[in-house]
Amino acid sequence: MCGIVGYIGVKEATPVLLKGLKKLEYRGYDSAGIAVLGGGGLEVCKAKGALKNLEEKVSALTSGAPASQAGFPEAQFSGTMGIGHTRWATHGEPSDINSHPHTDVSGKIAVVHNGIIENHGKIKEWLSGRGVSFRSETDTEVIAHLINYYYSGDILAAVQEALKRLEGSYALGIICENDRDHIIAVRKESPLVIGRGRGENLIASDVPALLAYTRDVYYLDDREIAVLSRDDVAFYNEDGERIRKTLSHVDWDAAAAEKGGYEHFMLKEINEQPKALTDTLRPRIIRDGQLSLRSVNLTEIGFDASWAEAKRVVICACGTAWHAAMVGKYAFEHFARIPSDAEIASEYRYRNPISSPRDICIIISQSGETADTLAALRLAKKNGGRIIAITNVVGSTLAREADLVMYTWAGPEIAVASTKAFTTQLMCVYLIALQTGFLRGHLDQEELDRHIAALEQIPAQAETVLAGKEAIQRFASLCFNKSKVFFIGRLFDYAASLESALKLKEISYTHSEAFAAGELKHGPIALADESTLVTALCTQEALFEKMDSNIKEVKARKASTSVITYDDVHHFDRSADTVFRIPRTPDCFTPMLSVIPCQLYAYYCSVLRGNDPDKPRNLAKSVTVE
Ligand code: F6R
Repeated sequence: MCGIVGYIGVKEATPVLLKGLKKLEYRGYDSAGIAVLGGGGLEVCKAKGALKNLEEKVSALTSGAPASQAGFPEAQFSGTMGIGHTRWATHGEPSDINSHPHTDVSGKIAVVHNGIIENHGKIKEWLSGRGVSFRSETDTEVIAHLINYYYSGDILAAVQEALKRLEGSYALGIICENDRDHIIAVRKESPLVIGRGRGENLIASDVPALLAYTRDVYYLDDREIAVLSRDDVAFYNEDGERIRKTLSHVDWDAAAAEKGGYEHFMLKEINEQPKALTDTLRPRIIRDGQLSLRSVNLTEIGFDASWAEAKRVVICACGTAWHAAMVGKYAFEHFARIPSDAEIASEYRYRNPISSPRDICIIISQSGETADTLAALRLAKKNGGRIIAITNVVGSTLAREADLVMYTWAGPEIAVASTKAFTTQLMCVYLIALQTGFLRGHLDQEELDRHIAALEQIPAQAETVLAGKEAIQRFASLCFNKSKVFFIGRLFDYAASLESALKLKEISYTHSEAFAAGELKHGPIALADESTLVTALCTQEALFEKMDSNIKEVKARKASTSVITYDDVHHFDRSADTVFRIPRTPDCFTPMLSVIPCQLYAYYCSVLRGNDPDKPRNLAKSVTVE
């Protein structure tokens, strides 16, 4: 979802902004723009479509192409401060006019915005009544005019006044032609990071856009304002008081956010899963006592026996992270015998959920910035629940608002479709569920040791699954044009099926669905015909016979069938057309392995269909608005 960059320093701002926007492309966008403040005053260039359209437009302007050809007045885009934006359309179609930055009537104030101004209609009416005419259909444009309305020589004061009128969510970057020494940055419920450099400072929606310049960052909290000059960053709270913020250091380097020789980020991230799983698991395991048995060590995150006394576990998330929540629900019931629910955050936030202060609420989010997920967190907190966050982004809003934070050490996930974040989220929920089961007395030390030993095998087993990628690629080359693909499974396999179907639909645009296999007969089987591929995830040993029947049922309706099962199981060799194998692990841990062939299958189908798997249409990496 929209990306913001801003630069103030000694370098030419235009290339810094364009480079920064490139690093934010993964968030999803449909137009882009920059505003640069230099000798030519405030200059704005915007273009619908891919970033290269903007680059070409800027380059035409800077190389002195005739104004009529470029469609802009002559401008040089030379200056040492500016703001940039990639827009993911919410209000108004993708177009040059609707792209950001938006300027006020005088053309002296430029604003980039991520989020939604919920009361923009009212403000627009109010401003229109005062003679302001609007150029775009966006909610953002009202901000530029509103700031101008309050401007009388002090841009910070004008922004502070304007903010009092805004309802909704926003991360903002603001520059003013009359103030060549400051960029104003604000956030409320949308991410914004401040990069602290030497003689230069930056703003960005996400860290990868800053890494070429600095790894020292400040995370803005809601309603805080940052005023960036070349040598300093000053912070203010919503009452306008100066506040101090702590500088954080980002450990991962720029290379971690590069493709590293892979054709796409998604393929790189699928292949990084063994390492990501190891990094997420290893620091949480210790060996104790005379027998040197393994234990889960969650003291670093503050998880003690009081957490295990919970009456109920509610796990809230969206999309892929909700599928991790489903696995979590099964894992908590299985290991800890504790009532558990997996809740879709966008539903939960609008229900009137029955909750008690003895609930623990686990909120899962790769980005830690998903609007619905954060709303669910706040509701659970208001209802007295204690919150554990599972997130991949250090310093994210989720990490800051939760009581405990367990990080997935997956490294930056750039591809829009989540892969390594998912499997590491699973690793985290398993660890918390195991530890809860142990603390509640449902697992003894030896059982715990055995389960952890199985978890320790997972990274190497994931490597084995990845080594079989050519078979998946071949399979994809035969089936990528199937018009319907169903994933079926039971229990843990059902949760993995949900994730597999989502992956396929989001990047290959194939109509794919997941069904609890027992539900087939209750409706979905009506869809099965020769154009259907049914992939059955079969790793729940006690239910092999049931799955075999389901496979035969869809086969009898002429569907093609494939199965994912253990490497030593031959139960499905006769019923399925194709069998893919994963190494043995306890049935409850299989989603971490069985999802990998499905991720690869989705990836290859996407490429074979001519799509960009990293940037699927209509999707954004971080869904920071509802
Ligand atoms: C799918 C995907 C999305 C996200 C969802 C939640 O591949 O990535 O479904 O899982 O938008 O995002 P986070 O985890 O950042 O809260």
